[in-house]
Amino acid sequence: MNQKKKQIKVFQNQDYKELGILYGLFFEDLNHAADGGLYAEMVQNRSFEYCGMDKKEYHALTAWEKAGAIEWEVRTERSMHAEKPHYLHVEAQPGGAVCNTGYNAGFFVEAGKGYDFSMYAGSVDGNVSIRVTVEEEGVVCADGHLEISGGTWKKYELQMNASRTTICGHLVLTFEAGGICDLDMISFFPQDTFLGKKGGLRKDIAEALQEMNPKFMRFPGGCLVHDGSLNDHDRNSMYRWKRTLGKVEERPTWRSNWGYNQSLGLGYFEYFCFCEEICAEPVPILPGGFNPHKGVGVPLWKIGEWVDDALDLIEFANGSCDTVWGKIRKDLGHEAPFHLKYIGIGNEEVGDGFFERYPYFHQAIREKYPEIKIINTSGPFASGESYEAGWRSAKKYGSDLIDEHYYSAPEWFLANMHHYEDYDENGPKVFLGEYASWGNTYYNALVEAAYMTHLERSKAVAMACYAPMLCNVDYVNWKPDMLWFNNHAILKTPNYYVQKLFMQNQGTDAVTFETTNLDEIIPLVDEKAITGKFAIAGNDIEGTIWDVRVTDCNTGDVITLHDIQIDKNNLENLLMEIKNSHYKVSFRFRRTAGRKGLKIYFGEKDEKNRLIWEFGGWDNWDCNIASCYAGRSSTISQRLFHVEDIEYFLELEVEDRRIRTWVNGVLYNDTADCLPKLEELYVTASVDRSSGRTILKVVNLTGEEKDVLLSLDGPARNSVIVTCLKGHGLDETNSFENPDNIIPQTERFPVYGNELSYTFTSHSVTILSFENDGFC
Ligand code: AHR
Repeated sequence: MNQKKKQIKVFQNQDYKELGILYGLFFEDLNHAADGGLYAEMVQNRSFEYCGMDKKEYHALTAWEKAGAIEWEVRTERSMHAEKPHYLHVEAQPGGAVCNTGYNAGFFVEAGKGYDFSMYAGSVDGNVSIRVTVEEEGVVCADGHLEISGGTWKKYELQMNASRTTICGHLVLTFEAGGICDLDMISFFPQDTFLGKKGGLRKDIAEALQEMNPKFMRFPGGCLVHDGSLNDHDRNSMYRWKRTLGKVEERPTWRSNWGYNQSLGLGYFEYFCFCEEICAEPVPILPGGFNPHKGVGVPLWKIGEWVDDALDLIEFANGSCDTVWGKIRKDLGHEAPFHLKYIGIGNEEVGDGFFERYPYFHQAIREKYPEIKIINTSGPFASGESYEAGWRSAKKYGSDLIDEHYYSAPEWFLANMHHYEDYDENGPKVFLGEYASWGNTYYNALVEAAYMTHLERSKAVAMACYAPMLCNVDYVNWKPDMLWFNNHAILKTPNYYVQKLFMQNQGTDAVTFETTNLDEIIPLVDEKAITGKFAIAGNDIEGTIWDVRVTDCNTGDVITLHDIQIDKNNLENLLMEIKNSHYKVSFRFRRTAGRKGLKIYFGEKDEKNRLIWEFGGWDNWDCNIASCYAGRSSTISQRLFHVEDIEYFLELEVEDRRIRTWVNGVLYNDTADCLPKLEELYVTASVDRSSGRTILKVVNLTGEEKDVLLSLDGPARNSVIVTCLKGHGLDETNSFENPDNIIPQTERFPVYGNELSYTFTSHSVTILSFENDGFC
């Protein structure tokens, strides 16, 4: 076959976008990312503060067991600190013991390694001798001993060396001669933490993040930030940074909206330090005094306290040591400023409440700290009412950036590669603070890589981070995730490697390139119109549907269908198969029981491939359209809506790929389900002005090899390092059993005359780093 020669030509001297801190990380304590994760503490519920508000099954003795002749009780009479009122009172006979079961299968200790045990204790009746061990089914893996004396609370510390390795140990405190005492803040850390810090971070996880070379880290979370009470002394408080500082034994513990407890051992100071240690710009996100999950906000006359939180945070990070908060930073052990440059207010906010409050933060920060870049926020989807509200606010007040979030099917990304093409590059910049395609397969990673080439090229996009970052395999709130871990190992997903490759090879400036004979577009689905089954199901409700009509808009023919009783089984009521390219379905609906609304399915091929009108979706907040490919859903239109127990007249019109809905005659959704397609190659080029590298990133999503002549205009380069993800089936992934299944491979080649003929393997991500050494 006579194929035309394909070419990519890079103009190394034509910078068109400073890449700045484009690629970074997003840390949120969900999936036990902090406790039982990055925070290396192994004792679960170390201060007996767990309770039913954190999680229904929790109580003060969760993760604790007793053995032998021992009485115990959690008390509050002589608390060590008001923030942590509970402690354990023990009355033991000789040999009685208490033990902690830790996270996952238990404690992980490794033979030959050192561990720091500590606890606060006070004896009630004479000295109490305690043997501290880590045991696996009675077999001792680490052993130590301490003596409690005196009734006042004192800290007792013990360094222990493990003699055996276990991944399912229990921490056992045995009262050898019996005794009566009170115990609190029982703690067990590895000494081999990240950078060897006492009470620090889990080394393997922290190092996996550090080696990515992220340019920033957004923290402490998404919904974690704004979900909860407005009172910072409530156990379910929104995330209020000031309450996370200081000695760990004096910090409160909180309910996490992800259904567990936050010890807050990892607090704001630790986040700032970690950012500094991994050379990532800190990007803290503060709540805007509004909880979008409940639609409740602080009254405007009280907003000052919340705005002060933002101003004080900047002072804490950057202020000199003679300012109030700068001194607090110094007293915590960090005299030098953290050089904070960014602050985010709000997280994927929906509803007017947030946007009424945002200007107070914005104006105060601008006035006092004009050098700080302020990040506004849009909703949880790539389009729709909340997204538009965020953008309106960001443009109106002149936010520097706006935080966009979306989790979608790979097919959504394939259909929306040029999402940022029409964005105004002179307005607020995009901070894509959360995104992922649903899944951790090789295919997901390839699609994300292709999308990242467009993020890199777009002048509108300034920052982007994959989400979520961490997940403990035994405590999954959300998937996919970038790094998975248990108590002793981590699993780097293909998505992680893509992020890492792009971070390590970001460059300082994007440069122009041109392609020749690389313009083929391959449609993945050939369906001009949305056709298929039409069905309706309740979403945990009861109700009635009547007056159902289907109109063929091409002919004007109307079919009237039977009434439906919706019951709580959420069963799909199939109404008919629709084959027209332009049709309208209308019906009346009244809910009679339950809190949510309906799921209206159309264009359904099967349960995994269909469109859904979610009327009263997500806890009855939304009127959305979702497009579902291979069981993975993407929201393509969002409007806020609460279904009530009244009569509604609902209409859905489908015209080719366009979808419109009306509620009682008012247009609610107007969107198009764009079809996924493949471009022949996805390409971006950058230069690293500090190291003198020229970097070409190329993603081949097709099933064919592509032979391409690469040529560099500008400075001579004589060698290239090629790093590739290639040679895998699209469904493959990494696992704990086979963690290195998908990993990058690196080679170095000479370059002659600034040209290289290169074959991009089918289904591959390739990073070519052109340099000036290695070969002469
Ligand atoms: O990343 C998981 C969650 O997704 C975040 O908490 C929230 O911001 C988003 O909805």
